[in-house]
Amino acid sequence: MAHTMVIFGASGDLTSRKLIPALYRLFQRGRLPADTRVVGFSRSDYSDEQWREQLTATTTKYVGKDFDAQSWKEFSKFIHYCSGDIQTPADFEKLAHRLEQLEGDQTIDRVYYVATMPQLYEMAAQHLGQAGLADDSSGARRIVIEKPFGTDLKTARHLNQAIGKVFREDQVYRIDHYLGKETVQNIMVLRYGNSIFEPLWNRNYIDHVQITVAEEVVVGRRGDYYDGSGVLRDMFQNHIFQLMMVTAMEPPVKFNSDSVRDEKVKVLKAVRPMKGADFADCGVRGQYEGYRKEVGVAPDSPTETFAALKLHIDNWRWQGVPFYLRSGKALSCRTTQIVIEFKEPPHLLFGGGKHTAPQANRLVIQIQPAEGIQIHFQSKVPDADMSMRQSELDFRFDSGGTSLPDSYQRLLQDVLMGDASLFARSDEVESAWAIIDPIIAAWRSPAAPAMNSYPIESWGPEASTHWMQDSERNWFDVC
Ligand code: BG6
Repeated sequence: MAHTMVIFGASGDLTSRKLIPALYRLFQRGRLPADTRVVGFSRSDYSDEQWREQLTATTTKYVGKDFDAQSWKEFSKFIHYCSGDIQTPADFEKLAHRLEQLEGDQTIDRVYYVATMPQLYEMAAQHLGQAGLADDSSGARRIVIEKPFGTDLKTARHLNQAIGKVFREDQVYRIDHYLGKETVQNIMVLRYGNSIFEPLWNRNYIDHVQITVAEEVVVGRRGDYYDGSGVLRDMFQNHIFQLMMVTAMEPPVKFNSDSVRDEKVKVLKAVRPMKGADFADCGVRGQYEGYRKEVGVAPDSPTETFAALKLHIDNWRWQGVPFYLRSGKALSCRTTQIVIEFKEPPHLLFGGGKHTAPQANRLVIQIQPAEGIQIHFQSKVPDADMSMRQSELDFRFDSGGTSLPDSYQRLLQDVLMGDASLFARSDEVESAWAIIDPIIAAWRSPAAPAMNSYPIESWGPEASTHWMQDSERNWFDVC
């Protein structure tokens, strides 16, 4: 089946940095469905040739050593451009006409990738509908919506409804690039492709779970966007919740989009709602030193660049097992990891006296960088009495010397194949906002817990360490 991918926001950064490189790499690896063409749509006035020239420069830069002139020449023949404004319905008629010219009378599956400013998502769907471009009687019609999907429950619901007037839910692909990460998908293989982990994966054996997404970068040139968003919207509502869902979900009956997403959304629905005094103790907020001087940031900004949250999942599997979630900018290092910390053995034969006290057994799932999985356990110190030491089984997730594919490769391939398993469903997005909204509201109210500042290149505010210690636990701060 031939495919056309129309990219709205074609002259934007995401298109040149991620989308075109991902499509090109899929082409190089023989993974694009045959006869796939790309049509860029944005206001800049380019010819096909001019857009190709621009993309040649950017793709060379972003693909690096994997770029080769010959395959790019072959691929770029399939790249076209149509100038137009998302806000002008007549430009969608023009687009429809251009697509007809390019596609001839072939039966074509089309993907509309909306990579514009979020304020235009709704209008893009509406104008696609008005121009008859959502009609899937002669080939599939799918729409991909970039993040952020709304800024709260109300706006997300409104956007779902607006898109739903034009596209059925099975045509809508809401992207979260964390689900395109190989190591995130590997969590499902770890859990459901083995029989040794799943029996332990519950309240009987697990003390708590930590999910950390630490970033070294500061907000830099994104101050304008970030100051209106903050870490809870930017990282928790989407990426961290996706990691939590994949870690906490029940095994789906099948690996298909409905079964997987049904199980994921149940996790969010089981998150214990907070009320009253819960908000004071549910987490720690922080802002890195110097944040308020960043370009685009208000001098008295109340926006968090760091947050730690404790959530409870009220179901049979997770009752009494807190999930500690944490993310921040300007931290010590870039690391995304999920730490499953197991309970202590029921009766300690060793330890105390001259024996070393045991550390908890941990399963550390390293999402990025240094992708891999470690199991921390106790072993005997050789040639000593019964002293113990912490030992590690260390698995590195590599693909035989080649670098792991960028998330967008997998996700774009899935959209083209019509597989929505790794995309967020409307109820998932809304349930995530329903958890985050009350926390944001509480943290903006006069009763909000104190904002803690923290030095750049630290693990966040000291208050976060103390807050963990208050529950007799420690963050696993290892880069
Ligand atoms: C984006 C956020 O969605 O994810 C950024 O807007 C963040 O603020 C980025 O830096 C992190 O993605 P990754 O893949 O680098 O962990």
